[in-house]
Amino acid sequence: MTTPRTSPEISGMGHSMKRKEDPRFIRGRGNYVDDIQLPGMLHMDIVRSPYAHAKIKSINSEKALKVPGVLAVITGETLAKYNLHWMPTLMSDTQMVLPTEKVMYQGQEVAAVIATDRYTAADGVEAVEVEYEPLPVVVDPFKALDPSAPVLRTDKKDKKDNRIFHWQAGDRAATDKAFEEADVTVTQDMYLPRIHVASIETCGCVADFDRVNGKLTVYMTTQAPHAVRTVFALVAGHVGLSEEKIRIVSPDIGGGFGGKVPVYPGYVIATAASVVIGKPVKWVEDRMENLQADSFARDYHIHAELAAKKDGTMTALRIKTLADHGYTDAAANPSKFPAGLFSICTGSYDLKNAFAEVDGVYTNKAPGGIAYRCSFRVTEAVHCIERITDVLAQELKMDPAALRMKNFIPPEKFPYKSALGWEYDSGNYPAALRKAMDIVGYEALRKEQAEKRARGELMGIGISSFTEIVGAGPSKHFDILGLKMFDSCEIRVHPTGKAMARFGTKSQGQGHETTYAQIIAEELGIPAAHVQVEEGDTDTAPYGLGTYASRSTPTAGAAGAMAARKVREKAKKIAAHLLECSPDDLVWEPGKFSVKGAPGRSKTIQEIALAAYTNHPQGMEAGLEAVSYYDPPNLTFPFGSYIAVVDIDRGTGAVKVRRFVAVDDCGNIINPMIVDGQIHGGLTMGLAPALLEEISYDDDGNMIGGSFMDYLVPTAMETPSWETDKTVTPSPHHPFGAKGVGESATVGAPPAIANAVVDALSHVGVRHVDIPITPEKVWRLLKEHGLSE
Ligand code: CDP
Repeated sequence: MTTPRTSPEISGMGHSMKRKEDPRFIRGRGNYVDDIQLPGMLHMDIVRSPYAHAKIKSINSEKALKVPGVLAVITGETLAKYNLHWMPTLMSDTQMVLPTEKVMYQGQEVAAVIATDRYTAADGVEAVEVEYEPLPVVVDPFKALDPSAPVLRTDKKDKKDNRIFHWQAGDRAATDKAFEEADVTVTQDMYLPRIHVASIETCGCVADFDRVNGKLTVYMTTQAPHAVRTVFALVAGHVGLSEEKIRIVSPDIGGGFGGKVPVYPGYVIATAASVVIGKPVKWVEDRMENLQADSFARDYHIHAELAAKKDGTMTALRIKTLADHGYTDAAANPSKFPAGLFSICTGSYDLKNAFAEVDGVYTNKAPGGIAYRCSFRVTEAVHCIERITDVLAQELKMDPAALRMKNFIPPEKFPYKSALGWEYDSGNYPAALRKAMDIVGYEALRKEQAEKRARGELMGIGISSFTEIVGAGPSKHFDILGLKMFDSCEIRVHPTGKAMARFGTKSQGQGHETTYAQIIAEELGIPAAHVQVEEGDTDTAPYGLGTYASRSTPTAGAAGAMAARKVREKAKKIAAHLLECSPDDLVWEPGKFSVKGAPGRSKTIQEIALAAYTNHPQGMEAGLEAVSYYDPPNLTFPFGSYIAVVDIDRGTGAVKVRRFVAVDDCGNIINPMIVDGQIHGGLTMGLAPALLEEISYDDDGNMIGGSFMDYLVPTAMETPSWETDKTVTPSPHHPFGAKGVGESATVGAPPAIANAVVDALSHVGVRHVDIPITPEKVWRLLKEHGLSE
């Protein structure tokens, strides 16, 4: 029998009037969704399931509708009348907006209450009576694949098991043969637990349907406004919402980190309510709802094997993985990649043979599989290869830095085709690792470690030399729900020589307003201060697939440069007209065209802009503007080498990151200060899953980790002073040689820390520890190996 936890921390039940004094609901004023106040605006709150798997026997709204100020209770039955109770996920699976038959995870939306204010809506939620009949719960993905397990997706008539997909890449036969012929093989199981982006700003929207002109405006926390508009039009076209009448506005959305890519039921219900009632409806989830019901990340059970020669040359990699997707595959992956870009798992190494397979599984948990500050499962891939590399080093009694240096793809081999099919654009891995080793003083640290070991102190040094894959992506292979993953920029230069640039992406604080303006300034010579950058409004910005997976610089940033170059081409013709010469006789230097050999005869971009509206050549259209939809020829492959130094307290098992050196390479850099900020934040978000964060479930599907009391995000106390540096290896195919950087640090940091902890304990035979490496886990290892004090 399923026993729901009754703690008020769980789900939307039990929060009621407490909210009024709750400081979590007091926010700063600004341009956030929660700050939006529209005349006549109503508020929505959601009834959530206490059970992980249960039939809904009845929903009684009578008492709720008697609460003064409660206007409506929306259930699955209400939405079913309009055929809006199910919606597609980004992976073309199906997801309930509101259930009509059963709930599939704890915290799932069951009904929504619309009221005149937020607190009344919460009181209405309390008054809705739902009768459940508990069903058997499956939380373990291994058990979910057992033939005796109940089939969870009973809505799919032909579904006979809980497997979502099987995906594989590489040459299985050649890899098996390489394993048979290997001198040494190592095997390691590792688990990357379910974690959550836990952005400070939760998800929400204000849906505003204007009955007079039939236009729907939704202000919402989305990282991909254009794609959302299209999905809304496809899902609700049959009830009269057509795409030209839908405007999605993504204001300041707070942290995104991939968690604000999916379309959550709350957005759809609030929109349906606004369309039916004809008034704006606001929905903003609270912290517990955010942690329990929004998309999670990771949850990969990995079985990894690495084969090598005696001298340490790696010869083959074989990986089998079980991916727990919860009750529906709501991952935010490109369509053709059910396991994301996990096939980057050969990492920075010249591995001739590799085979990887992933099975996706349904369980009674919140759905997802989002790219949490990671380009679609790259964090999982990097953790796997960087951990198993250290396992091999330990087996061969080789220094992990030396083993890496021996196996790196040599700089002269780029562009490099990996065994799993990617063409790495450029890289210089030995240079990055050498630099990190010099900064940290690697050799001296190894001596210090030996001395400390002799004294019984525990110190570890961990390396992670990762390769990322960002900039999804080339339209040949990359789409989401069929929408190709190009991105865009539209530039308009005004008569006074100032410019407006709009992009298909959406910054969440990465500084696009600064860096995009810099790109255009560099290309056109208009000062960055005079380039107004806008994103996030589907009524004005050109169509694009949004910002996540560090794709903005490789795609929209490139589009910015390409659109600027188109503007420059037209500007050249106008300059030739003004200077009465042939365009071929002109030379460009930032900000002006001059006649070759006559530098005094020139026209500035501002003079040309004015002429575009006042004195343009006859036969040419007036104006100075251009748009680019940039389809990248390849992804970009940023990389880096990180070295962590940790000390372990033998009394408590606590791990202290004493030093952390991060050498990153993201090709040519637009703005070094922003890149450094991205890396600092990313490193902290990498430290978090390495040492602290985890969402787990008990056997009844009760979520453990539904509040910040037990889902531990890092504070300044745990965060070391990051030491950052760089190498620069430009991307050969990007218009200005840049690669993405936003997530490198989150991807690269966890294995460096995990490797350092294992390194500290390797002399007693410890070979692996799963993240998060909590004091309790380390303390148990210390006890087991007679090291505890
Ligand atoms: O897609 P997202 O903006 O999250 O990631 P990104 O493309 O890696 O860019 C993050 C921030 O770093 C943006 O403001 C970029 O313009 C900036 N950046 C840079 O200045 N130089 C690079 N080579 C890469 C990114």
